[in-house]
Amino acid sequence: MCGIIAYRGHKSNAARMVLEGLKKLEYRGYDSWGVAARTEEKKGGVETPDIFIHKKIGKIGELNLSELSLPRSNLAMAHSRWATHGGVTVKNAHPHASLEKDIVIIHNGIVENYLELKKELIKNRYEFVSETDTEVAAHVIHSEYAKCGDLEKAVLNALKKFTGRYAFLVMSKKHDMLIAARRGSPLIVGKGENGDYFVASDIPAFRAHTDEVMYLDDEEMVVIDESGARFMDLKKNKEVTKRLVKITWDTKEAEKGAFSHFMIKEIMDQKETIHRAINQDEKLIKKVAQAIDKAFGTYLVGCGTTGKVCMVGSYLFSRIAHKHINVEFGSEFPNFRHFIRKGSLFVAVSQSGETADTLEAMEVAKEKGAKLMALVNVEGSSMDRLADISIYQKAGPEKAVASTKATTAQMAILTLIAYACAGNIVEGKKLLLETASLINDMLNPRYEDHIRTLAEKIKDVESMYVIGRGMNYPMALEGAIKLQEVSYIHAEGFAGGELKHGPIALITKGTPCIALVANDEMKNEILSNAIEVKARGGFIIGVSPTNEEVFDYWIKVPDVGNASPIVNIIPVQILAYHLALLRKNDPDMPRNLAKSVTVK
Ligand code: F6R
Repeated sequence: MCGIIAYRGHKSNAARMVLEGLKKLEYRGYDSWGVAARTEEKKGGVETPDIFIHKKIGKIGELNLSELSLPRSNLAMAHSRWATHGGVTVKNAHPHASLEKDIVIIHNGIVENYLELKKELIKNRYEFVSETDTEVAAHVIHSEYAKCGDLEKAVLNALKKFTGRYAFLVMSKKHDMLIAARRGSPLIVGKGENGDYFVASDIPAFRAHTDEVMYLDDEEMVVIDESGARFMDLKKNKEVTKRLVKITWDTKEAEKGAFSHFMIKEIMDQKETIHRAINQDEKLIKKVAQAIDKAFGTYLVGCGTTGKVCMVGSYLFSRIAHKHINVEFGSEFPNFRHFIRKGSLFVAVSQSGETADTLEAMEVAKEKGAKLMALVNVEGSSMDRLADISIYQKAGPEKAVASTKATTAQMAILTLIAYACAGNIVEGKKLLLETASLINDMLNPRYEDHIRTLAEKIKDVESMYVIGRGMNYPMALEGAIKLQEVSYIHAEGFAGGELKHGPIALITKGTPCIALVANDEMKNEILSNAIEVKARGGFIIGVSPTNEEVFDYWIKVPDVGNASPIVNIIPVQILAYHLALLRKNDPDMPRNLAKSVTVK
């Protein structure tokens, strides 16, 4: 979702630096971008400050920055916009300026009461050039600034008027100062050398310049000027000191290397990531297992792909530990708040740790007194910091919009916890180590070729279906998400047994149907469902440890018992990737989608 990066320091190429940083946030998904840089040029012998603004529709990735004539500047900010209020136009792109660029802002999130505020501003003769809530926010800050002439105070007063979740960055032509504030949308401050500071929505934006960061919490603001960075707790209205955190991953981990896309790189990373994910402190895993054991109801909560992982989790806990675990999508969880009380355990599962729906569900659970646990990939993310206990997925930065390696890392950790709940962590670890090593063998060039050949056969179909049973049912749903996201083929996932209750009417001659098969007690049943589809003309793609008569195309996966959802989803990820390429789609930045969905 929208990317934010700003710099204030002693260097004079601030505009270029923030645009380079913005390129590193491309993976978040966006439709337009813009930059603002504060300049001080001599006009008639007098230093005259101004703000240069440049905005564009489309992607910044291919742009050669030297083609842009950027001014000298020590203070700049840039933004990539994922449209919410108003279409994809240059006028709606950020930065937005208020009168004579006294106030220039970029923003992530939504100012929910913007219409109300806009009416008030129109009465006071403010004019609008865009349809965005951001421009409204710029004018609100300006109206406060007009009253007091103090930028910091103006931002403080304006923030009190906004409802919703957001992250703001504010600058003014009149002050060599950068102000950032957050409520709900992530903002991280990077501390460079010689008084240089960066503020961004994600670390890759400034990782090339520093590995020291400070996390802004909700209802906090930072003011950066020549005297350094001052942090304010907006609720308590007092200054706070922030802890400096060292980033341990290096820049290469967040680069494509020899791969043509992040998506395939991250799929191939799964040769190592399962292994890394289960390399956890056993004491921590046992502590979590005990917390689940003792809890008055455990809720696994996530969104999208991660929501499907949570569903797999509930099957795993039932199979392995004979424990009932509740599962909810983040956006639906608040409907079940009535069942949460002191003693309940809320487990937020998330790659980014920033997904607004999951974060809000977590806040709801906290209010009701539940214990909070986070299973996240991004250390220091909002969910990590809100949780009482965190477990890290250790998948490394995931940049392709479509989640792959974080998905399997999450499943591996949930499997391990389920075994720990059953008092058998050793067996769980052994199974997962074997699985990791079998995935390493499986992900070879021949395997990818075999799947590419299938993609060539089916690339022009209109619809496809994925079926599974038991713990592979949520993976059928996830397989469909992967296909939808990057191939744009209409795809749906079903529980194998549900087909005959309606969806089988959709099968016509040649319709591809992927059957996710495990060598378990449901094998014969899912094969029967595949036979039912074949009898209606369906083209059966079997993802299975063994070849079966019903399969028209077989993709072999290792026989790994309870780790079957982990291995079964990988060939579907590869298929989705190759379908995307064959259909000339960009698998890393699919249309309409964004990484890290920070709006509700
Ligand atoms: C799909 C995908 C999304 C995310 C969802 C939650 O490939 O990545 O469905 O799973 O937006 O994101 P996180 O896990 O960051 O909370």
